Amino acid sequence: MTKLSPSILSADFAKLGEEVKEVEQAGADYVHVDIMDGHFVPNITIGPLIVEAIRPSTKLPLDVHLMIEKPENYVSAFAQAGADIITVHQEACVHLHRTIEMIKQEGVKAGVVINPATPAEAIKPILPDVDLVLLMTVNPGFGGQAFIHSVIPKIAQIAAWKREENLTFEIEVDGGVNKDTAALCVEAGANVLVAGSAIFKAKNRKKAMEEIRV
Ligand code: DX5
Ligand code: ZN
Repeated sequence: MTKLSPSILSADFAKLGEEVKEVEQAGADYVHVDIMDGHFVPNITIGPLIVEAIRPSTKLPLDVHLMIEKPENYVSAFAQAGADIITVHQEACVHLHRTIEMIKQEGVKAGVVINPATPAEAIKPILPDVDLVLLMTVNPGFGGQAFIHSVIPKIAQIAAWKREENLTFEIEVDGGVNKDTAALCVEAGANVLVAGSAIFKAKNRKKAMEEIRV
């Protein structure tokens, strides 16, 4: 079944603990935490301190998406703060294989992310080493942006390589996912859907989650 990873970027940051509990009760599978540094992306969010603060509010895996330069310098801090999955951008890693191994050595699941304009080929060599591939369906930095449809064939390409090579990584999509675009991602081969505004800005979040999960 398709998994849902609500992005707390669109939640109320004054009561993050309650927001996380609400989506857990509504059936979320992961909690997606967006880390931005104002350099890799033009926005700043939160650091390990806040991850540590929300950790006791949920039993769900924390899916920590690092949109930062030199992510290798912060892997250990986020692992210790309670991350269960850490994803790093291929575009931000000079030594991607080393950083993926570093994440795994922390006892955390390791994922690689690519932006909409980065070709699937850029991560083909690392596919056997990762637990998750995250395909951005918006340019990272902000919630509430429009889904970029040209990423769909890339989802299908990654899913095809996964089948051909008998690999087991999850395929996650992030950005502009709502009840209309979710189905397109799942059809192409995604099994984890990140959604921020479509869940947290909805009047009935549980209903919104049910509609997104296809
Ligand atoms: C974008 C973030 C996303 C964001 C998605 O840079 O990585 O996780 O929260 O928000 P929506 O679902 O509103 O596009
Ligand atoms: Zn994200």
